[in-house]
Amino acid sequence: MKILVTGASGLLGLNLCLKKWDSHSILGVDRGKLRGTPFELIQAELTAPEAASRLIELARPEAIIHTAALANLEACEANPEAARLLNAEVPGMLAEACAKHSIRLIHISTDAVFDGTKDGIYTEEDLPSPPGVYSATKLQGEKNVLAAHPAAAIARVNFFGWSLSGTRSLSEFFFNKLSTGQPANGFTDVYFCPLFVGDLADVLVRMLEKGLSGVYHTVGAEALSKYEFGRRIAIQFGYDTRLVIPKSVEESGLIAKRSHNLRLSIHKLSTDLGLAIPVVSTGIEQFYTQAQQSYPQKMRSYAQS
Ligand SMILES: NC(=O)c1ccc[n+]([C@@H]2O[C@H](COP(=O)([O-])OP(=O)(O)OC[C@H]3O[C@@H](n4cnc5c(N)ncnc54)[C@H](OP(=O)(O)O)[C@@H]3O)[C@@H](O)[C@H]2O)c1
Repeated sequence: MKILVTGASGLLGLNLCLKKWDSHSILGVDRGKLRGTPFELIQAELTAPEAASRLIELARPEAIIHTAALANLEACEANPEAARLLNAEVPGMLAEACAKHSIRLIHISTDAVFDGTKDGIYTEEDLPSPPGVYSATKLQGEKNVLAAHPAAAIARVNFFGWSLSGTRSLSEFFFNKLSTGQPANGFTDVYFCPLFVGDLADVLVRMLEKGLSGVYHTVGAEALSKYEFGRRIAIQFGYDTRLVIPKSVEESGLIAKRSHNLRLSIHKLSTDLGLAIPVVSTGIEQFYTQAQQSYPQKMRSYAQS
């Protein structure tokens, strides 16, 4: 399958594009941040008029994984109009163009569409209640995609791994602090289900192969607090676990409201894929192995200087 990946310079997009896929070819879309990549690249500003239809006519993909977004929560609060355009309008336009050309689409959404007030695990049947601009615009993006292209799949994700900047993911936050002997705050009152980005890439491609449609919780199989996640990074890398400082998210000074409970059920995903979804410990091992193999440095060699 020829798969077009938007947001090829992003945390998810770049890891997805760099994986070796035996029976698929990858075409990444960036805005000029990358060079010399081992995969084919085209450039597009997705908010430009007619960008989606022009991209599809130029690339003629069989499938699209749409990862591009304004994914920084604080930036979304500061600029709600830019967030609405990129997170809600662009996905709708892309979905419309995909539907017209019978192209499979996976739209990447977020676990953060839930406000975290449920006492228990969220399933796809639960009604989202987005707590801020980022999550509200992402939820509108889901609705726009499904209205324009009912056969599309929506993947509500949460993931970690190495990024082009070296600072994008929570795992990199802990690594950067702990590896230089600095303390790192870990929230004890935010529970989530992170999936290693390499595992997420595999799952997304399996979803395309299986032709899944509709909303899927596409997260890891285990829930833990952000504090515990930081401790596990410390243990894996052999750093001092006492550097991970237990804190409440309510004392963080962050402007965008964070949900306390982002425990999402992966039952529908694993049943429909016929696949066991990985737990966080195997993902943290892979994150560590990639560091040993100089994967972060290799990744950064593709950054346009
Ligand atoms: N990271 C997480 O744990 C997490 C959690 C839940 C959901 N998500 C969702 O997962 C997806 C991927 O997130 P990520 O962390 O990989 O994001 P990211 O690292 O911030 O990357 C965003 C990507 O979108 C591209 N982009 C932004 N504006 C664009 C525009 N106007 N035209 C074309 N491309 C544009 C960026 O290009 P430039 O590099 O040129 O800016 C970049 O490649 C997003 O949909 C996000 O909402 C992420």
